[in-house]
Amino acid sequence: ESGSYGLDGHPDFMRKEMAEQPEAVRRALRGRLDTRFATAHLGGLDLDPVALRSVRRVKFLGCGSAYYAGQIGAGLVESLARIPADAEPASEFRYRNPVVDPDTLYVAVSQSGETLDTLAAVQELRRKGGRVIGAVNVVGSAIARECGSGVFLHAGPEISVASTKAVTTMGVSFAMLALLLGRVRDLSAAAGARVVAGLQALPERIEAALALDDEIAGIASRYASARHMFFLGRVSGWPVAREGAQKLKEVSYVHAEAYQAAELKHGPIALIDKDMPSVVIVPDDDIVVKNVSTMEQIRARGGPVIAVTTVDLPAGVADEVVRVPRGEAVLDPLVLGIPLQLLAYHTAAALGRDIDKPRNLAKSVTVE
Ligand code: AGP
Repeated sequence: ESGSYGLDGHPDFMRKEMAEQPEAVRRALRGRLDTRFATAHLGGLDLDPVALRSVRRVKFLGCGSAYYAGQIGAGLVESLARIPADAEPASEFRYRNPVVDPDTLYVAVSQSGETLDTLAAVQELRRKGGRVIGAVNVVGSAIARECGSGVFLHAGPEISVASTKAVTTMGVSFAMLALLLGRVRDLSAAAGARVVAGLQALPERIEAALALDDEIAGIASRYASARHMFFLGRVSGWPVAREGAQKLKEVSYVHAEAYQAAELKHGPIALIDKDMPSVVIVPDDDIVVKNVSTMEQIRARGGPVIAVTTVDLPAGVADEVVRVPRGEAVLDPLVLGIPLQLLAYHTAAALGRDIDKPRNLAKSVTVE
């Protein structure tokens, strides 16, 4: 399957594909950013400005990590274009007899383009006259063909069952889609230019996040004996937490549960003790102080805290602080996922797992 795509000296494909992320992002951005008009050009989209302006809602559909990436996309669309947006597992959507709305733009998200649940959701949408585009990595795949138009991710081949670079390029594609939808509406040229510059700077921020490798390997070895972990985040940090928990479960088999940080006090906080570490995602947004108080509440109950953040946190607020470089804040979810990939990877390595071939999993789920 991998053909001439070899390990090139890396111990496994997950490691190689994580390392390839700056280049994958550069490829995903190539020729698509317009600095003159502070917007994006997505040639495969097949929607003129009139059609783009007629979009009243955006819904992302995908499975697993593609669904979590879609949730990041929904946040970007709401922030930059001020259009209501959400994400739903394609597997749920296809079974619940959804109301298909002609003013909604549906985005089918898939690395492989072969995930059966996502393909079935697209077919159902098309049968009912829904406008659906693909956000797909594999050119010529079933979902890409069924959608007919969309955004190719250009992540390059992904072999590791645990998706890393494809997820990151999904986020990049959604940032460009959100920018484009914003710029035919209320988003100012100045605000658009900040996003364009933020996207151009993204490969370097990701490189800096990847350079935290040794630090994160150390953290992973200190916490690898934990049986359970929380991943907590608010708003744009919440889908990042979900994806981080998913990655840890897939490759290390450590039980990880993602929660919206504010929901913790409504029940799950009962689980906090010295054996239950929490990874808290703290983006550069208006609610940093809320995330700080979450960390204080956890530590007051004896729970270890690993903060993953783009901001300077008050000293002593967490047992471990993974600090990722600051940049355009709206893009923080795309950068904050990188240390979580590394945490999953190093935890799996510390536990001696077969990283590229986790038990019970296939690269793409083409069965019911
Ligand atoms: C990702 O690490 C997982 N292996 C899985 O959740 C995956 O994202 C999901 O099955 C969707 O796959 P697709 O992107 O190929 O459609």
